[in-house]
Amino acid sequence: MSKSYQIAVIPGDGTGTEVVREGVKCLEAVAGKFDIDFQFKHYDLGGEKYLKEGVLLPDEVINELRGMDAVFLGAIGHPDVKPGILEKDILLRARFELDLYINLRPVILLPGVETPLKDKGPEDIDFVVVRENTEGPYAGGGGFFKKNTRNEVAIQESVNTRKGVERCIRYAFDLCRKRDKKKLLTLCAKTNVLVYESELWFRVFEEIKGEYPDIDTNYQHVDALCMWMVKNPEQFDVVVTGNLFGDIITDLGAVIQGGLGIAAGGNINPETTAMFEPIGGSAPKYTGLNIINPLAAIGAAQMMLDYLDERSAAETLMGAMEKVLKNDLKSMDAGKMGYGTSEVGDLVAGYVEKT
Ligand code: IPM
Ligand code: MN
Repeated sequence: MSKSYQIAVIPGDGTGTEVVREGVKCLEAVAGKFDIDFQFKHYDLGGEKYLKEGVLLPDEVINELRGMDAVFLGAIGHPDVKPGILEKDILLRARFELDLYINLRPVILLPGVETPLKDKGPEDIDFVVVRENTEGPYAGGGGFFKKNTRNEVAIQESVNTRKGVERCIRYAFDLCRKRDKKKLLTLCAKTNVLVYESELWFRVFEEIKGEYPDIDTNYQHVDALCMWMVKNPEQFDVVVTGNLFGDIITDLGAVIQGGLGIAAGGNINPETTAMFEPIGGSAPKYTGLNIINPLAAIGAAQMMLDYLDERSAAETLMGAMEKVLKNDLKSMDAGKMGYGTSEVGDLVAGYVEKT
């Protein structure tokens, strides 16, 4: 009997629509092959909808998303909408309301993809960042005092709960065990300056590591870790960190794994549902040109298969992506791939069918 999944599809803005189409195409190809039944439900959300109707992410939609097996998101961001509105009320709201407390961001250089790091190859760049996704400054309050005067003060708080820190660290230890590579979990924080929040992370990390005698651990300050990601990325296996540091280091991670054309991530609640997205954003200047690289979205779809525990399907899709990178694509960059967005999707889907 075929296994059925309810998948919410939110193409969103700009090139999000174009790349999500290719992700769905590849999921359909995999579904045909592995007797999986995907029920896709499309949601029209994003900047365009907001400008026309003032609608961001309605409560009814949130409630529907809760019941889905997974959400597949393209990109949120519109040049005519003031920065912060769509991000806060769609993307971050979905993360918070669905309690998607893990942001999983693999930093893996696939064969055939160019990295700007000199003398580094796929064997050197192969790690995963586990970013806490519901707390930190993203959840903190704050405000202005004496705003717009010469004496003004801005306060920005960071929220770190034991529960939030602990579940994130546990997830990272489990992932490290499951990956079964270097079996090294690195905690990234800033214990020398952000003494309260970092102490909580450090203490909980030290507490939990006793439960994982098979995993080695170490600690790096976030600034040093940035340096090591460039100089010596081969030391990493799994890195666990808070929301803001995770945001920052994974942009660096995206660049060293070949750029935004290939970087994907998952917003995950291991107990309920998850939302997968290419990290790239809506890229307004490329919209409608059929030149943007869909591999990040296809990679997000691949992560979704993995999350759904469709192992063979996930492996097959990864294999197909690797074949396209090896045999077909000239570059990862929009306009330089040698193929259009939809052709790259066709190529990947074709390899899936031929597997
Ligand atoms: C990301 C993005 C978001 C974040 C923005 C768009 C709010 O940069 O997913 O990394 O900061 O988390
Ligand atoms: Mn970011």
